[in-house]
Amino acid sequence: MKINKPNSSANLGVAVENIDLKKPIKNNLINKIRDAWIRYGVIIFPNQELDHEQLELFAQSFGCYGDEPFLIPMSEHPHIVKLHRKPHEQASPFGGAWHSDWSFQAIPPSGTILHSKIIPPQGGDTLFANTAQAYDDLSTDMKNKIKDLKAVHSAKRPYAKDGFYALEKEKRTMKIHTSDEANQTFSHPIVKEHEETGRKTLFINPVYTINIENMPTTESDDLLFKLFSHMGQEKYIYRHKWEPDMLIMWDNRTVIHMAEGGYDGYERLMHRITIAGLPSN
Ligand code: SIN
Repeated sequence: MKINKPNSSANLGVAVENIDLKKPIKNNLINKIRDAWIRYGVIIFPNQELDHEQLELFAQSFGCYGDEPFLIPMSEHPHIVKLHRKPHEQASPFGGAWHSDWSFQAIPPSGTILHSKIIPPQGGDTLFANTAQAYDDLSTDMKNKIKDLKAVHSAKRPYAKDGFYALEKEKRTMKIHTSDEANQTFSHPIVKEHEETGRKTLFINPVYTINIENMPTTESDDLLFKLFSHMGQEKYIYRHKWEPDMLIMWDNRTVIHMAEGGYDGYERLMHRITIAGLPSN
């Protein structure tokens, strides 16, 4: 197995080569992959033609399965969600705004695995931003201002009965279940420490973070806008270009991500599994 160096200024995204994920991975290699995943936020395994069982086996090497609310998984594989957009489809790409997967959960998933099956000839990149690096670069004043603040997270904007997916007019191939449960909220510290490394990161995102606790709305909106603009700067972003049969795994604790469109008229099919998080220290 060979772990390359990241080739982006964001210090995210390393390719792992000379490994066949069809076979069970030995423990010493799992540890090395885990270290690279945590260090570089996104790891990439090109040329991995896997079936669903092999994908599940890979996921299980890194923890328990996460909970998948609001997305209806494959009936025979209850932990795999199909991210599918057909050529005729006009609905916006799923996951098309910056987010960290299921950050509204009490213990959000530590990781997400995405395996590509059908990739369009243009568009359809996934963008990742390094939120730990973004935290490090904040001014001392800003670090002091946010150090004890908590942000409220909720799935309501996309998944409530009056949310984005419930109201959208265009037909979507993906099976999404909107629900009143999406109105629930959970608060996390804005500055969260990674459970495995202690590294501080900005644990907020524009899709699921709705306000800052105990702060007037305008002030909270202004501060969140400032932080989101800071996190979304080009220097923190790694743009992932897909090929078929590529598996990537990212760390939801130190990166936010979004799916880009630009492939109308073409099909895109991915399979996704989340890995359950660990309780905070
Ligand atoms: C997501 O999980 O948010 C979607 C990512 C993608 O399809 O590129």
